[in-house]
Amino acid sequence: MRRPFVAGNWKMHGSRAENAQLVDALLQGLPAQAPADIAVCPPFPYLWETGKLLKSSIIELGAQSVCAEAMGAFTGEVSAGMLRDVGCKYVIVGHSERRAIYREDDALVARKFLAAQSQSLVPILCVGETLEEREQGNTTSVVSRQLNAVLDVAGVGALANAVIAYEPVWAIGTGKTATPEQAQEVHAHIRAAVAQQDAKIAAGLRILYGGSVKAANAREIFAMPDVDGGLIGGASLKADEFLKICAAAQAH
Ligand code: PGA
Repeated sequence: MRRPFVAGNWKMHGSRAENAQLVDALLQGLPAQAPADIAVCPPFPYLWETGKLLKSSIIELGAQSVCAEAMGAFTGEVSAGMLRDVGCKYVIVGHSERRAIYREDDALVARKFLAAQSQSLVPILCVGETLEEREQGNTTSVVSRQLNAVLDVAGVGALANAVIAYEPVWAIGTGKTATPEQAQEVHAHIRAAVAQQDAKIAAGLRILYGGSVKAANAREIFAMPDVDGGLIGGASLKADEFLKICAAAQAH
C-alpha cells in the first residue's frame, strides 16, 4: 500500500500575513488522522517562518526549487543544505515553469535531483508533456526522456527516496485537467518504466498528478490505481479547497 501524498505548490504567491492565515486555516481544518502525507512549498523567503507555523503539525515543508551546486559564488541561488537547514523535507525539481521559463534542461534537473538527495531532501521530480508534444503522439517518449535523464545519473535506487509528479504542461494553471484515464495512462507508463529496472521500487513509488486539480475533480483523479495524490498549485492557496483535496486522497 502506498500512502498518498498531497503537496501544495504556492509558486510566487503569499505574504507573511497571508501565509499565517492560510496555515492557521489548514491546521484548524485538518482531521486528527490525515488520509495522506501533506506538504506545502512556500517561496524561499517564507520557508523558515512557515516551518515554524507548521511546527509539530503533520504538514511538512518543501521548497519549489534548489541549486544544483552545494555552495559558493552562485548569486541568487539557494542550496539543498540551506533548505535542509531551514526545515525542508521536500523540494520540487524540474517543474515545467522552471524548464520553460528558466530554461532548465534535463541534465540540470538531474543535477538538482542529486543535490537534493545529497542533503537527504526528498525530490519531487516533475515530468510532463506540452500540448504540442501530446498532439504529436510524443507524450510517453517525452516523459520517458525526462525520467531517464534522472535515472541515468541517480540510478533506480534513488527513487526509493523520491516522488514523481506527472504534470501535463497544458493542464497547469489552465483549468484544463487531464481526464482520470489520461492521467492513469501516463502514471502506469512511468511505473512500468521504473519496474523494468526494479519492480519493488516501482511498486512503492508515489506518482502524483498535477495540473488544475481542485476539490471538484480530485476524488476521481486520485481514485486511479497509479495516482498516489497530487501536486496542487492554485487550489493550494485556498484552505478549504486544499483541505478537500487532501481528504480526497486514496491509498492504493
Ligand atoms: P495548478 O498548478 O494546480 O495551478 O494547475 C500545478 C503545478 O504547477 O504544480
